[in-house]
Amino acid sequence: MKAKKIINILWLTILLGCKQEQVEINAPANDNPSITLTKLAFSSCGNQNLEQPILYTIANYQPDVFCYVGDNVYGDTRNMSVLRQQYAKLASKPEFAKLTAETPIIATWDDHDYGENDAGTFYPMKNFSKDIFLNFWGEPASSPRRSRDGIYTSYYYGDQEHRVQIILLDNRYNRSNLDGSLIGYTPSNDPTRTMLGENQWNWLKNELLQPAKIRIIASSTQFCVEHNGWEAWANFPLQQEKMFETIREAHAEGVFFLSGDVHYGELSKQTPEDLYPIYDLTSSGITNIEDNPAPNQYRIVTKDPIMIRHFGAIEINWDVNPVTITYKIIGGQGNTRLEHTIDLDELKF
Ligand SMILES: [Fe+2]
Repeated sequence: MKAKKIINILWLTILLGCKQEQVEINAPANDNPSITLTKLAFSSCGNQNLEQPILYTIANYQPDVFCYVGDNVYGDTRNMSVLRQQYAKLASKPEFAKLTAETPIIATWDDHDYGENDAGTFYPMKNFSKDIFLNFWGEPASSPRRSRDGIYTSYYYGDQEHRVQIILLDNRYNRSNLDGSLIGYTPSNDPTRTMLGENQWNWLKNELLQPAKIRIIASSTQFCVEHNGWEAWANFPLQQEKMFETIREAHAEGVFFLSGDVHYGELSKQTPEDLYPIYDLTSSGITNIEDNPAPNQYRIVTKDPIMIRHFGAIEINWDVNPVTITYKIIGGQGNTRLEHTIDLDELKF
């Protein structure tokens, strides 16, 4: 009896040790027809060991939704208790508590919260880190996101005339190995290399066939930049072309990208053949700031990236004709450091 009691206590101790820090994440429903989206904020790369005052600025901006686009914590471990502890550090921050109390939150991951620097499909703990991620960000137990090969998902806002689709990609779970090394990746034209994996590509094709006026695709790594040796879609040019082709085939209008990862903010624009201009607003500025940015021939609006702590914002003006979209990078004092407005009509075939 005594031994059984000790075993029970041991089990209880283990279970409590594994229990994830509970935070009340205000996760929106996947479909929000009664909310007309006018302000979305997003950013990435927040070190949980540092103060994150930009989260106060984001809360004060009062976006309809805030999107974490990856490296939301720096886990970098194969020990899942350690990964949980890193999330717990984020959860304990008063600035995070304020943001999550006041703002609906959606999230995708990048390498460091997936679990390992620049990791792809071969990271062995991915199913465990996926559960930790989805539990932390408030994904319901019954969500189809839990049974997918990755954390990709989508959200919809607004009625038929104001329909905004937000697609969160998973650039980690199925991503093939990169050529080259940490000090410089080289582009691969191997047709078997994949960024998203077959299931996610098929899911994305179907998503792009759903009706929407504006389609925001969040990709943790940059979509529109030139190849520069760092992680980006440019390491798999055929996959980048597949994305263009997928948009063309679905005749999906109103598409643009959000991204993070690089420790600065910038706006990029590519004009592929037989397609409207594709924009990619990068915001990577919760805590980590790079002082040596990579070259990017597609960067527009500013000569250099924004290299202060910041967040990215999308503002949609539905009250004008044509509807406009404004891309912004906003600094810690609430000051706009980059601003570029386009007509939604520009994002048409
Ligand atoms: Fe990253």
